Amino acid sequence: MKKIVVIVLIVLAIGVILGFSVLNKSNNQDKQIENVVKNETEEVESTITQRNNILIAYYSRTGNTQTIANYINQAIGGDTFEIKTVNTYPEDYEEMKDIAKQEQEENARPELKSKIDNLDKYDTIFVGYPIWYGTMPMGVFTFLEQNDFSGKTVIPFCTHGGSGFGNSEEDIKNTIPKANIIKGLSFRGDDVELDETKTEVAEWIRKLDIKK
Ligand SMILES: Cc1cc2nc3c(=O)[nH]c(=O)nc-3n(C[C@H](O)[C@H](O)[C@H](O)COP(=O)(O)O)c2cc1C
Repeated sequence: MKKIVVIVLIVLAIGVILGFSVLNKSNNQDKQIENVVKNETEEVESTITQRNNILIAYYSRTGNTQTIANYINQAIGGDTFEIKTVNTYPEDYEEMKDIAKQEQEENARPELKSKIDNLDKYDTIFVGYPIWYGTMPMGVFTFLEQNDFSGKTVIPFCTHGGSGFGNSEEDIKNTIPKANIIKGLSFRGDDVELDETKTEVAEWIRKLDIKK
């Protein structure tokens, strides 16, 4: 009888030891995964935090993108630069749309009113624009091509009527392939004045962890 009790106790003890070792192993795996995720996040954040010279460049015809640019500016400071074309678009919406469409079809590079003369001093550059026919207005292409973005961190943002970024992020990558392009954020034009949108911008910026 005593023998049976001893055997049962030994079997139970082995069970408990095995149970603990399995638990411990899965805990360690969880910790390892946690560390990898943490390291990756820190890596992305550190690319930005080390760079504190920020430019917010934007094009805006009716003010929506400018509103987002201002929210970003309020959240992190930095300088703002409005991309403006020498030839402005007609007031008449239909005429305006025709010209914008034609410019896109011709892959035009509308001349800009002014040029950033010291892009060198900026490391992180937000580039904002409205979506026009699935991508950026052609003047934004001019802006990207006029400047040297090699090694710069570029963060796109846009406003739109429902299509999101469209092809614009891809177009930015192709236009300035030497830049380090971070995933950006898009906003519905109709929502820009909402408090939620301002909060969303502040939260987005906080996650990017860009220092003032
Ligand atoms: C010529 C033109 C083309 C547009 N094309 C699109 C489009 O393809 N997809 C979309 O979602 N919105 C489109 N929109 C809507 C604008 O992207 C949207 O109203 C934007 O918020 C305007 O920004 P802004 O006030 O900064 O100029 C277009 C607007 C215009 C004037």
